Parts: sequence; structure tokens; C-alpha cells
Amino acid sequence: MNLADLNKIARAMVAPGKGILAADESSGTIKKRFDAIGVESTEDNRRDYREMLFRSKEAMTNYVSGVILYDETIWQKAKDGTPLVKLIEAAGAIPGIKVDEGTQALPGCPGELITVGLDRLAERLKKYYEQGARFAKWRAVIDVGNGIPSRTAIQTNAHALARYAALCQAAQIVPIVEPEVLMDGDHDIARCYEVTEAVLNETFQQLFIQRVALEGMVLKPNMAIAGKKSARKSSVAEVAEQTVKLLKACVPSAVPGIAFLSGGQSDEEATAHLDAMHRIGGLPWGLTFSYGRALQAAPQKAWAGKAENVAAGQQAFTHRARMNSLASKGEWKAELEKKAA
Ligand code: 13P
Repeated sequence: MNLADLNKIARAMVAPGKGILAADESSGTIKKRFDAIGVESTEDNRRDYREMLFRSKEAMTNYVSGVILYDETIWQKAKDGTPLVKLIEAAGAIPGIKVDEGTQALPGCPGELITVGLDRLAERLKKYYEQGARFAKWRAVIDVGNGIPSRTAIQTNAHALARYAALCQAAQIVPIVEPEVLMDGDHDIARCYEVTEAVLNETFQQLFIQRVALEGMVLKPNMAIAGKKSARKSSVAEVAEQTVKLLKACVPSAVPGIAFLSGGQSDEEATAHLDAMHRIGGLPWGLTFSYGRALQAAPQKAWAGKAENVAAGQQAFTHRARMNSLASKGEWKAELEKKAA
């Protein structure tokens, strides 16, 4: 492992004004997104859609540091035969790859999940590196509910995350470590804080035990936020304050960067929250976005699977990427959203 090079990539992923485009929806998830806009999920349509994003020159050059790809996409070619990976590299962004193979039921823990995909991961990482991937992603899912998460779910998922991260670094690939505490429940922000704190502490404990170099990784956490079904919605100020407090307490400053998932927040909420955290300031790590839905919902709607809408789709994507770029510097203003609309 060359830690200096891993550190260089990790820092580039969270460079000021830039963030990560999470375009790594699995076949099942992209089908759901396409269903919502009335587009059939064929290999060509998935290619056309992602090609549209990666050819958004302004966004990809100025606001996007890296793109997380799904296995299908990393091997795909654009309509003119150019590998999609080359389009990303040509814009100066870094290709990355989702390497987990989804979740399975965790035995003995009703309703809880364990992320799988460690078997043969070392061989797969080698091939992804040859194909151009310089970072990877593994997502653990922790649900909050009556009596959950269990100690078992937290520990087994943290163990798998650290196993994955160690294998990535041995393959000269920067691991994005993503322990996602879901915001699907009716819990309040205090409960989200408490669960995320336990999850992050366990994750960093496992990373330490398994000798993962913190300087060569990026953390992708959820924010501290009330569940979607909670009776009390968190304010922007509350999310920003609680999240910064939580991350400062749990994430060592040796970690070069933190890139949030959007997790079901609205586009504008995800932007406003990131912006408010930067306005608090004094952050020891790079802090940016690694959004999937909050970057892609608008372009998906504008595109709707039609070739004549590609420019509109690119415009919608560029707008969201620019808003989040500004937020990653604490320079976003709500008026900028209205002007665009
Ligand atoms: P969302 O921003 O839609 O939560 O997706 C980010 C991601 O990569 C989840 O694994």
C-alpha cells in the first residue's frame, strides 16, 4: 500500500467546492427511479442516462470530484464507443466503484440487515483498479425502530466495513466507508444522534483493529436528523449543529474527508444542511456531498428518457451540482434556487 497516494486521492475527493456524484444505483434501484419517470430500465437506457450526466461538462469539471459507478457502468461504452470511465477522467473527475453486493437478512436479528460481498473482493478490486477505479464504496444499513438496532447489527456491519476497507487499501483503492443510519422511521433527532454515535464509534474501533489507515479513507455518514415519519421535523440549524457536534466527537481528524449521503432528504434540504455546517466552521476534515437522489432527482425528471431532453437534464444536474458546490464552501443562498426556477 502506498499511503501517500491514497491520501492524495482521498483529499481530491473532498477538495473545496467539489463533491461526489453517487451514480451507483443497483439494477433494482435504478429500475425504481426509471419507473417513477416512465422509462424502461434497459441496458441502453441506463447507459444513455448516465452518459448524459458524465457529459455535463460544467458540472463534471467544476463541481464533481468523483463518480461512484455500478459494476455494469464501469464496463459500459458511450454511444460513440468511448468508455464511460474515460468520459469521467476526461472531465478531471475520479472514477469509483460500488463493491458491496447488497444486503441479506441478519440471522437472529429480525428486521435487520448485513451487507455482503467480501468473498472474492480482493480479486474484484484488482480488476476494478485496472479499469480505472481509484476509490470504492461499501454501504452498511442500520435501521432505527422499536428495539433496533441491535448490538449484533452494529458490530457485524462495522466488522464487514473494516474488512472491506482493509482490502481496498491493500489494492491501492481509497475506501468510502458508509455506515448509513436510515431516516425512514418515526424517531427524533436525539435518537438518530445516539444510534449514529454508537455506529460510528464501533466502525472506527473496527477500522483500528483491522489496521485501516485513516489518512487513506473517506467516511460517508448520514446526518443527525429526525426520521421522515417523526412528528417533529428538525430545523436546518438543528441538523447542522447536531451533525457537526456528532462528527467532531466520533471522527478522528486524521480522516481527510467526510462526504454525506442524502438518504431521502429533499434536494434543497440536503444542500441547506451542508451549507449550514460550513457556516459553523472550524471543521477538521473536508466536508462535502456524495449524493445520489439529491443530485439526480431533478435531472431524471427533466430527462424523462427522451433524447430531446438531454440538454434540460444536463442543466438540471449542473444546477444541483453547483448549489452543492457552493454549500460545500458555505456560500449557498436560498435565492439562488428561486432564480433558477
Ligand atoms: P442517497 O444520496 O440517495 O442517499 O445515495 C447516496 C448513496 O450512495 C447511498 O449509498
